[in-house]
Amino acid sequence: MASASAVYVSRASALNLTRPLLRRPSYAVSSTPTLQAWQRPQLRWSSHAPASPSLTARGQKPVTIQTLQKMHAEKTPITMLTAHNFPSALMAQEAGMDMILVGDSLAMVSLGMPDTSEVTLDEMIMSARAVSRAVNRSFTVGDLPMGSYEISPEQALASAIQMVKQGRMQSVKLEGGAEMAPAIKKITTAGIPLVAHIGLTPQRQHSLGGFRVQGNTLDKAMDLLKDAKAVEEAGAFAVVLECVPSDIAAEVTNALNIPTIGIGAGNQTSGQVLVQIDMIGIRPPDSFLPKFVKKYGSMWDMGLAAIQQYKSEVTDRSYPGPQHVYKSDAKVTEAFKAAIQSGES
Ligand code: KIV
Repeated sequence: MASASAVYVSRASALNLTRPLLRRPSYAVSSTPTLQAWQRPQLRWSSHAPASPSLTARGQKPVTIQTLQKMHAEKTPITMLTAHNFPSALMAQEAGMDMILVGDSLAMVSLGMPDTSEVTLDEMIMSARAVSRAVNRSFTVGDLPMGSYEISPEQALASAIQMVKQGRMQSVKLEGGAEMAPAIKKITTAGIPLVAHIGLTPQRQHSLGGFRVQGNTLDKAMDLLKDAKAVEEAGAFAVVLECVPSDIAAEVTNALNIPTIGIGAGNQTSGQVLVQIDMIGIRPPDSFLPKFVKKYGSMWDMGLAAIQQYKSEVTDRSYPGPQHVYKSDAKVTEAFKAAIQSGES
């Protein structure tokens, strides 16, 4: 009989997954001779076990660069969302996101840093690896953090290779326009797909004077267009436009042959991206949110209510209830008590 792990791998092939991520966890129940591993009810002995990524695949085809180009040609909006860990990536993929970005917004929204300048390539890679373990359909993009690509095209390529090999991302993103063209060319000619990011580039917030709308004067709009054309020419397959007036973003989109992914750039871009933690509302109610963010949910309220209820049920001992406990054999318990009382140990 095939081993359980072989059964898992062949099921991955049957679902047409190009990156089989399905590994049999070491704590799973032992094999029975009659049922294949994936046919047995899943018993879990650990409360912190990862959920099965196979649930997210549903036999759909993985999104590729060609899929994205086809969507762009057909004017079908491209959906992109950030994910910074395994569950958020599972959720983004399950919801059908075409692209999942491991953005350096990780620094602020998940690691509590004041801005994105502190986050390191190693921290980004750890986050990317977790996301990659969840994703087998959406197209993944790993952000190169500040300091990992600006020194030279060689440094940019070395960081991009690390993001692909260790972070297991399918492509990388970096911030900057015409001045980054040599780095973009170096990365893309090495065969690594790249998303550029222009307009508001948060890694340069101090030189931009903060988080401000970009491209809002004629000169600035012309510069934005120059940057967009330069990154396209250098080989980027898409470009994020952040915080740009919607009419300007629409013109830039029309002038390019590659898709634009807008954030705070109106609804005429080729696609949209948001930071997941912002849009599902995992933030205290008084947190600042930029004007362009639509809060589609309030996971903060749901999470808070659940944790408060847990506290109260632990306090009044209604949790764990009878359905959550393991029972011992009454005879074993009696014998155990007697042994304790008789001083045996
Ligand atoms: O880091 C990030 O999440 C991003 C998006 C906001 C585009 O770059």
